Amino acid sequence: MGSVPQEFLPESSSKSPPARTTQPDTGQRQGSDSGLGKVTPVSGLPTHVAIIMDGNGRWARQRGLPRTAGHRAGAKAVRAVVEECLRRGVSALTIFAFSSENWRRPKSEVRVLIELFMSTLRIEIRRLVEHDVCFRVIGDLSAFSEKFQRQVREAEQATRDNRGLSLQVAANYGGRWDIAQAARALASELVAGRMDLDAIDEAAIGARLATSGLPDPDLFIRTGGEKRLSNFLLWQSAYAELYFSELMWPEFDADALALALADFARRQRRFGLIGEQLGEPGGGLQHNALQNDQVPPNFPNEGASDADASHRLDTPMMPVQSARDLA
Ligand code: FPP
Repeated sequence: MGSVPQEFLPESSSKSPPARTTQPDTGQRQGSDSGLGKVTPVSGLPTHVAIIMDGNGRWARQRGLPRTAGHRAGAKAVRAVVEECLRRGVSALTIFAFSSENWRRPKSEVRVLIELFMSTLRIEIRRLVEHDVCFRVIGDLSAFSEKFQRQVREAEQATRDNRGLSLQVAANYGGRWDIAQAARALASELVAGRMDLDAIDEAAIGARLATSGLPDPDLFIRTGGEKRLSNFLLWQSAYAELYFSELMWPEFDADALALALADFARRQRRFGLIGEQLGEPGGGLQHNALQNDQVPPNFPNEGASDADASHRLDTPMMPVQSARDLA
């Protein structure tokens, strides 16, 4: 793609999504409306949100447009969601831009997706820096061109000290690939005598996953009406709350995210414990027994290396007994 499509330029106000009924924003908004005012994380807010952005193709087809127009509209939706995460104080966002399976799509579509990724990054990098977003790509980057890899490295470098939001974009990513590469890393350390067999535990694996240094996702959103995990963050989402939206990804805006966050805030999370252990009156008949800003037993990734330090979040451990302590 030689030039960036007009509809995707930052200040563009072209084609807005068709009107839909917006429901009340039940989330807690803080900060100024003029910019991406940072907020203090609020109780019940997920620390890490993961999103499968599905439905670009169908959104386009419904409008008689080529699928690639759906991807362009989808890229605009990414920005809206990133901004909303910043405004609300979500600490980490991981989005699935290109799966290991997406290579099987028609060559022309794959090319557009890659070019869109690169042009978006070129345009947005300034905003990412300004708004304190730490950007990183997770996935097997070796399959992409050297130019692509260089652009990613430069963006990661330019944002590595930012702390406002940790944004992971998954490209040529698959959950099974991630687990396999972590296993391979451990095996090679073992063979080299740098790792004891007994030291291979969940934390050791977590520390070698592509998301190393981040807490696991608390909220896993998929748009487009399908109810599948599609090989996204399989290990990391063990305790994630799942949220499926009927909206096609280009329709998923700040209000839609607010609804997902409000739904999450009402969920009860137990991490294998029972209501009484969590101090609930009635043993768990109330919602939100374990506040959603509390953390699962295996958080944070204890073994994260220093190389991952820029992605480590400063979220405090909450006073929840770990499953290990209880055993
Ligand atoms: C799924 O919709 C979407 C993708 C495979 C690509 C997601 C890409 C973007 C949102 C744009 C670029 C992203 C960034 C970060 C710049 P689909 O094509 O599978 O939709 P369908 O199920 O309706 O066919």
